Amino acid sequence: MNSTELFDLNGKVAIVTGGANGIGAASCRMLAEHGATVVIADLKLADAQALADQITAQGGKALAAGCNVLKDDDLVALVNRTMAEFSAIHILVNNAGGGGAGKESPFEITLEQFERPFQINVFSAWRLAQLCAPHMQEAGYGSIINMSSMSSLNKSPAISGYAASKAAINHMTANLAHDYGPIIRINAVGPGAVRTGALATVLTPEIEQRMLAHTPIKRLGEPEDIAGAVLYFAAPVSQWVSGQVLFVNGGGVQTLD
Ligand SMILES: NC(=O)c1ccc[n+]([C@@H]2O[C@H](COP(=O)([O-])OP(=O)(O)OC[C@H]3O[C@@H](n4cnc5c(N)ncnc54)[C@H](O)[C@@H]3O)[C@@H](O)[C@H]2O)c1
Repeated sequence: MNSTELFDLNGKVAIVTGGANGIGAASCRMLAEHGATVVIADLKLADAQALADQITAQGGKALAAGCNVLKDDDLVALVNRTMAEFSAIHILVNNAGGGGAGKESPFEITLEQFERPFQINVFSAWRLAQLCAPHMQEAGYGSIINMSSMSSLNKSPAISGYAASKAAINHMTANLAHDYGPIIRINAVGPGAVRTGALATVLTPEIEQRMLAHTPIKRLGEPEDIAGAVLYFAAPVSQWVSGQVLFVNGGGVQTLD
């Protein structure tokens, strides 16, 4: 395989959850630029459709699909629709996620609020992987990429639900690599602070200055920085890589406290 083929995704079908905005959208664009057909699965169908139109206008292949990853029926319907439209699934990016970053004081939240990040970050990713895996086996190529976070390593106040759920992703990924190999690889990407709508809700100029003080590459991340890692795991270039977490963080640590 020459070095161009190592990044070639022509003929591959990729599902990206939370694909309409932020890191997911950058991942959709990058996978499509390398030839993949992308299924942009998102709560916000209008945003997903706008991105699918952009990708198609630039010569790529994309489909927008409304999906709430917290609903099992939606996950089943997403996989069925992808199979009906494209007859294969090769790549799954479990990107939809979140939590109450910086607002998870155990003195203020309920057990249900603590559980929620596990439902969106861990349970939905495990379930969608389970639904996609047989189709990847059948296709003879599979790469699952779970979106972790630097929070899976950092220790900070008021973030125990989100951080613990992202740490669970890391270990779930390492263990599932043993279940899904040899045909299917499963890896995770752990972003530091990345300029997206989600970060904008909690970032202040003071927090940003503190983050940069601990970051050797003196800027925050852009969604494309993370999409590059997604591309690496999706493509044949990483064919002997499974069960790993790649932290993409400017070489540093960015926390909200
Ligand atoms: N931005 C950061 O600094 C950062 C850092 C570490 C990890 N992450 C992780 O990256 C992932 C993406 O974050 P982002 O910053 O790009 O977010 P974002 O808010 O910019 O975009 C998230 C997208 O996911 C969609 N979405 C939300 N809930 C959904 C659901 N239940 N079902 C389907 N779609 C849903 C939203 O509609 C939106 O389009 C998350 O897993 C997040 O935890 C982000």
